[in-house]
Amino acid sequence: MKNQLYQEFDKLYNKEAANAYFSPGRVNLIGEHIDYNGGLVMPCAITFGTYLLVSPNNDGVFRFGSLNFDEKLEIPLQDDYKKIDGGWFNYPLGIIKHFLKDGHRLNGIDMLFYGDIPISSGLSSSASIEVVTAFALNELFDAGYTKLDLVKLSKSVENNFIGVNSGIMDQFAVAFGEKNKALMLNCDTLDYKAVDTNLGDYILAIINTNKPRKLAESKYNERVRECQSALAALKQQLDINNLCDIDTATFNKYSYLITDEVLYKRAKHVIEENNRVKLAAVALGNNDLTEFGRLMFASHDSLRDLYEVSGKELDAIVTYSKTDGNVVGARMTGAGFGGCAIALVKEDAFDNYSKQVIEYYTNAIGYAPSVYRSLIGNGVGEVVIGDQQLKIRD
Ligand code: GLA
Repeated sequence: MKNQLYQEFDKLYNKEAANAYFSPGRVNLIGEHIDYNGGLVMPCAITFGTYLLVSPNNDGVFRFGSLNFDEKLEIPLQDDYKKIDGGWFNYPLGIIKHFLKDGHRLNGIDMLFYGDIPISSGLSSSASIEVVTAFALNELFDAGYTKLDLVKLSKSVENNFIGVNSGIMDQFAVAFGEKNKALMLNCDTLDYKAVDTNLGDYILAIINTNKPRKLAESKYNERVRECQSALAALKQQLDINNLCDIDTATFNKYSYLITDEVLYKRAKHVIEENNRVKLAAVALGNNDLTEFGRLMFASHDSLRDLYEVSGKELDAIVTYSKTDGNVVGARMTGAGFGGCAIALVKEDAFDNYSKQVIEYYTNAIGYAPSVYRSLIGNGVGEVVIGDQQLKIRD
């Protein structure tokens, strides 16, 4: 039997899809709110992601369909595009705009998207859809971008078309991710190393708060601005370009320059978190999961108290995880304000952990979280979609 996604494409466009692509989502193991401060992060691609089926058309139009949303868009090929209120298709539309701005000649295409990343969960569904579109257009129209160009282009769409001033971590992770590896990425130089995530008897659990994320984008942009202000204060005495250019000792020496208490807390988180990533890389190299887990808990505490991007939902997951003897570490992952937490859980205790955390969270918050066993997968690419059944929205 033909895969359900191909069937849906036939139904929608009355023809067969010519190519299929996949881009994953990501989790970040440690190094949160660091990328736009020029420091180190440690994300990995996950096996949830966005599929894109395409077929060229001779009508000179771009057609956007999705199995996740009812809204569709059909728009003629033109020189430029503006963001359209609220639509999911702004992500691929922004990518098309960017290709055109760079002078590439495109023709009409019919597109069908399907994502199995829970939307608004902080697992980078937006970077995933941006990168899968950019990758597909690059192949289809022979645009000649490198993978790193596609990452930068997708980030620029997120910043300038969508309006979120995010760093480069998400787009980088979903493009360059490798199976069973974490990326140790320097967000200033963009040098990276894929490191083995040898978790031994442990697995990575993803716990989705299922909290609707309101104001997340404006709060995110506020944090970016706060870091810029803290950096400006330090620059009075220090010749630096990013907050992560200094270590904790230098920060302690010069932190008097930051007179605003909120800005001080933000900068302290950033500089200490950057240091935690270095320690976490050493711990991972030594297979010392206890130390790695300790750093995850410390990262969460800092995001809660200094950076103030957690919330009672994410805190409830971490609070429970600290009491569970089969968990070595847990923290929020991604931007925060809801979204997901991750936990390193003993594999044979996963079912019990899942049951217990759901019960604890539901009592504390009033509705249930979702718990997934996460696999670390590959980055973006062309795919042949097998026969797996898709959990398409009811
Ligand atoms: C979001 C952004 C990233 C990064 C994280 C926080 O996922 O898109 O660029 O800043 O938040 O670490």
